[in-house]
Amino acid sequence: MKLTYYGHSCFGIEINGLNLLVDPFISGNPLASHIDVSTIPADFILISHGHQDHVLDVESIAKRTGAKLVSNFEVINWFAAKGLENGHSMNHGGGFDFDFGRVHYVSAIHSSSMPDGSYGGNPGGFVITPKGSRTSIYYSGDTALTYDMKLIGEQFDISLALLPIGDNYTMGITDAVRCSEFVGTSKIVGLHYNTFPPIQTDLELASRVFDQSGKDLILLEIGQTLDLS
Ligand code: NI
Ligand code: MN
Repeated sequence: MKLTYYGHSCFGIEINGLNLLVDPFISGNPLASHIDVSTIPADFILISHGHQDHVLDVESIAKRTGAKLVSNFEVINWFAAKGLENGHSMNHGGGFDFDFGRVHYVSAIHSSSMPDGSYGGNPGGFVITPKGSRTSIYYSGDTALTYDMKLIGEQFDISLALLPIGDNYTMGITDAVRCSEFVGTSKIVGLHYNTFPPIQTDLELASRVFDQSGKDLILLEIGQTLDLS
């Protein structure tokens, strides 16, 4: 399994030869200007919520690759109306077995309007359990810290959590540490920082705070791939 960071909240996750792409926002991210969107592989595009900084490149990548979109009912319907009809809608608390493994759509405390202002359903996150694996990856999406995350820790063996650390719109550093405690993992990849002025983040401080809590905060370069196997 491989994890590639494309900036902001966007990751590619390769599982058994299938490529998942989560929350593609690349062409609008000056920090990711060296990433060529037209070469990013995708068999599935997971979308946590409707905000522009999570869906900007969905249309172009889905049209090129034919990837299946996975998100809440409203986000899937919005893209279907644009002609992207290869969608799979979910809602909170539900899980589904895809070819690469199982996805649970879990709750997030945030908002979710589409880029045109239309209703984007309720925002969520994903617990991804690769086929044949006993451990799971938690991608929280944009969210506040919430006690619901304790349930995730009880229901799943989380080996890695992909969490926002940028504050202002989402959890900041200290809440992300508590989130990783709630879900029961000490391995965290940080996201949703530095892209915009309100989420400029002191990354040295972030690393120190996680370290002091006995947690390993991984901050990937944009374009960097982490081998998780
Ligand atoms: Ni958002
Ligand atoms: Mn966001």
